[in-house]
Amino acid sequence: MSAAVVLVTGASRGLGREVARRLVDEGFTVLAGVRDPAGMKPLPGVEVLCLDVADPASITAAATTVQERFGRLDVLVNNAAILLDDRSDVLSLDGDLLQRTLETNCLGPLRLAQAFAPMMARGARIVNVSSGGGQLSVPSTWSPAYCISKTALNALTVQLAEALKPRGIAVNAVCPGWVRTDMGGPEAPRSLQQGADSILWLVLKANPGLTGGFWRDGAQIPW
Ligand SMILES: NC(=O)c1ccc[n+]([C@@H]2O[C@H](COP(=O)([O-])OP(=O)(O)OC[C@H]3O[C@@H](n4cnc5c(N)ncnc54)[C@H](OP(=O)(O)O)[C@@H]3O)[C@@H](O)[C@H]2O)c1
Repeated sequence: MSAAVVLVTGASRGLGREVARRLVDEGFTVLAGVRDPAGMKPLPGVEVLCLDVADPASITAAATTVQERFGRLDVLVNNAAILLDDRSDVLSLDGDLLQRTLETNCLGPLRLAQAFAPMMARGARIVNVSSGGGQLSVPSTWSPAYCISKTALNALTVQLAEALKPRGIAVNAVCPGWVRTDMGGPEAPRSLQQGADSILWLVLKANPGLTGGFWRDGAQIPW
């Protein structure tokens, strides 16, 4: 049987790149979704797929390519995201900034799921990389646009999980913890490897029947 095909979005750097690298080692056919293939630092063993998750036409084109090349997708890791409002507060939050953040962090994963679900079979998985910042059970005032977008991604995860349950496709959200990447910054306590481990648990280790949950380091966390 040919290797399972996984698409990791936002794989040019940070956690997406590390997850893609590790999945090559696990024997997957890895498609690294990046919006600037020419600027991508080489990553041995991955196939680079041009993909801007904020651009519906780009998602459609990527899905057509995957359908024509492989005829299927086994795992979709919705990892790409932006954090634009590190210093804003909700009372002065700019509506355009919120809209841009939602386009990438929530509408992107929705459109990707819509485009790729038709080529997913029983046992396939969708992993939405969310954040503790999206937990309604842990209120905060930090980065409202980003946090609202991750709460919306969590809600999307539950909707997709219910919709795809009859087809045996698992959909879960995962928090990698606070990780030293461009987004997390140098002060973050977690290494790239630790953050990627949290995401990879859902790809490699979680029982395929687990769906509709929010996870960190293989343990369920509250919404
Ligand atoms: N780092 C943390 O502490 C932390 C904590 C909780 C959750 N997370 C989540 O973990 C995931 C990865 O974060 P990270 O820390 O690795 O972030 P990062 O270092 O900022 O990398 C973000 C990645 O997303 C890509 N991206 C952004 N917008 C895109 C678009 N429209 N289309 C395609 N790719 C796009 C970037 O591509 P370009 O190179 O083209 O910009 C880059 O590859 C995100 O979902 C983030 O919210 C991170």
